[in-house]
Amino acid sequence: MFRFQAPPPLALYIHFPWCERKCPYCDFNSHAVGGELPERQYVEALLSDLEQELPAVWGRTVQSIFMGGGTPSLFSPQAIDTLLSGIRARLPLHPGLEVTLETNPGSAEQAKFAAYRRAGVNRLSIGVQSLNDTHLGALGRIHNAQQAVQAARSARQAGFDNFNLDLMFALPQQSITQALTDLQAVIDLQPDHLSWYQLTLEPNTLFHARPPDLPDDDEKWDMLYRGQSLLAEHGYTQYEVSAYAGDGKRCRHNLNYWKFGDYLGIGAGAHGKITSAAEGVIRRTWKRRHPKDYLASAGSRQCIDGERELSAAETLFEFALNRLRLKQGFELNEFEAACGLQRDWMIPIVQQAQHDGLLSFDGELVQHTDQGWQFLNDLLERFLP
Ligand SMILES: C[S@@+](CC[C@H](N)C(=O)[O-])C[C@H]1O[C@@H](n2cnc3c(N)ncnc32)[C@H](O)[C@@H]1O
Ligand code: SF4
Repeated sequence: MFRFQAPPPLALYIHFPWCERKCPYCDFNSHAVGGELPERQYVEALLSDLEQELPAVWGRTVQSIFMGGGTPSLFSPQAIDTLLSGIRARLPLHPGLEVTLETNPGSAEQAKFAAYRRAGVNRLSIGVQSLNDTHLGALGRIHNAQQAVQAARSARQAGFDNFNLDLMFALPQQSITQALTDLQAVIDLQPDHLSWYQLTLEPNTLFHARPPDLPDDDEKWDMLYRGQSLLAEHGYTQYEVSAYAGDGKRCRHNLNYWKFGDYLGIGAGAHGKITSAAEGVIRRTWKRRHPKDYLASAGSRQCIDGERELSAAETLFEFALNRLRLKQGFELNEFEAACGLQRDWMIPIVQQAQHDGLLSFDGELVQHTDQGWQFLNDLLERFLP
């Protein structure tokens, strides 16, 4: 059923499951560090985990590395250096490799940034969240606004010519004016890339159990609409649901997810997706989530918590779910190449959505209409298996 000319581009995701403190809105696999960070053991575990994955990607070149969390910047530059050197020794890397490290302003200092850069990190992603101390307090953040501003300045001073700032809106008791003031203050820091997320209440978080007082839907809509104009005025083009950047500064690693590329996932709870052109399958794997279980099993089969092959219907849905987050739309030949499926799988759904005014379609290029972009969830539901 699946036929691939060649596997899609390959990325590497590395998960760091610790934070100084757990934020009440966060459902990422992150644990308060409480005690000494098992830095050396974790780096060794990551490299053993990678070794185990190598046969599945033999001869393929990695285009981007993303160290996410949790808070990877809790790790010392020496540990990141050992890790990146270990990866270089094991995997062919693209000459223009993008290497991102997520940092939390609370655990960041300029000296560390420069040393991360020397270790091979060429893109930082800094979790600012807000530049209003009251809102930072409500979000349970460990840093204040001044430290967040300093982190952005330090990134530039350390020589990073590519950094992202994460900002959230629709925060507890946030007014529209406050949300826009926050956004303007972040724009003034001149990041190369901005990830601007609406705060959501995720199951299994403190905020979900005891919801704070959030702006209503009309206010959220106003924040989004007016914020997007502000971003556009300052040259930040929206290219994905929450991602904005100037020319040449789009995040290559995330683009690979959204274009349904392949990725290895190493670290506690990390997910991977690998296409085997020879076998004609797309395989998903995920690792043990708890850091203790992961550390005890890394490098052995026990480290893999689950693994499965995607069916054709699931592949179609996952492609749409990712690809339609991008504003640019897609061509049917890209669908065929990434999914190994014939276009007949896609065409009837696209034609129905075209009929309902959610997509435009010229026989090759599939593109959201304004309505399709505005009601993206309704559009995506049509691709459900
Ligand atoms: C893994 S965290 C970032 C790294 C770092 N630990 C930090 O918090 O600064 C990724 C980003 O997802 C966003 N995020 C996390 N939980 C969210 C939620 N419930 N709603 C919206 N955005 C969220 C935040 O902007 C956060 O910076
Ligand atoms: S610091 Fe980041 S990853 Fe850690 S709990 Fe807070 S939002 Fe989640």
